[in-house]
Amino acid sequence: MLKLIDVVSGYTDVNIIQGISMEAEKDEIVTIIGPNGSGKSTLMKTIFGLVKLRSGRILFDGSDISRVRPDKIVRKGIGYVPQERNVFPSLTVWENLEMGAFIQRDRFEAGLEEVLAIFPELEAKREQKVGTMSGGEQKMVAIGRALILMPTLLLLDEPSSGLSPKLREVVFKKIVDINELGTSLIIVEQNARMALSVSHRGYVLEMGKKRFEGEAKSLLANDEVKKLYLGGYGCI
Ligand SMILES: Nc1ncnc2c1ncn2[C@@H]1O[C@H](COP(=O)(O)OP(=O)(O)O)[C@@H](O)[C@H]1O
Ligand SMILES: [Mg+2]
Repeated sequence: MLKLIDVVSGYTDVNIIQGISMEAEKDEIVTIIGPNGSGKSTLMKTIFGLVKLRSGRILFDGSDISRVRPDKIVRKGIGYVPQERNVFPSLTVWENLEMGAFIQRDRFEAGLEEVLAIFPELEAKREQKVGTMSGGEQKMVAIGRALILMPTLLLLDEPSSGLSPKLREVVFKKIVDINELGTSLIIVEQNARMALSVSHRGYVLEMGKKRFEGEAKSLLANDEVKKLYLGGYGCI
């Protein structure tokens, strides 16, 4: 479904992403983990066309989306929830969801049904300003906004960051619900163990390069991955 071939990208003259190949199949949840600064967010932005691809190729459903603008990428069926500034705090829940359908307004109603199937709790809060909501609720609005155009692939950058352990569990449960409704997901996560436990496959990045890849189960069981990236033995 999504295929990255030797992707190189960055902001200044330094290459941050230094030749990464990876893929996500239809109906898969793929998690990308790695230390702070390893390039996870940059990789997501590169896929979504927000950071310029310097070399390599990105294919989505067989078509080349290398250097395609974000609004065009959205039309092709990819949704993206950035790590930060992913809601409009001064707008209501409904207005935030409407913004998600900004480029294809005729698809709002159908998308809304899908979003409410995943996040029924948003309906009662439709008139609430998002800035006054809890961190967990804001995440749901952010994800809902990206889901409104019913993407076939959803990119989530740190969906559980800043949330209590209980809310983190709720978010991961929602991620599984989204996947079960037929959306593939690529997730970047600090809570690597939890993310891998709901994923089919995973990648470990380090300094802009791929360090490990494989089935989520085998990454969770890999001694080196555990020691370096999963907080040591026996920790959660
Ligand atoms: N807007 C930017 N301009 C220049 N450098 C950036 C920018 N955003 C991130 N970087 C740099 O890119 C590297 C990777 O950052 P990032 O992709 O955010 O890592 P991660 O998401 O894995 O923590 C870091 O060295 C960071 O300082
Ligand atoms: Mg990041």
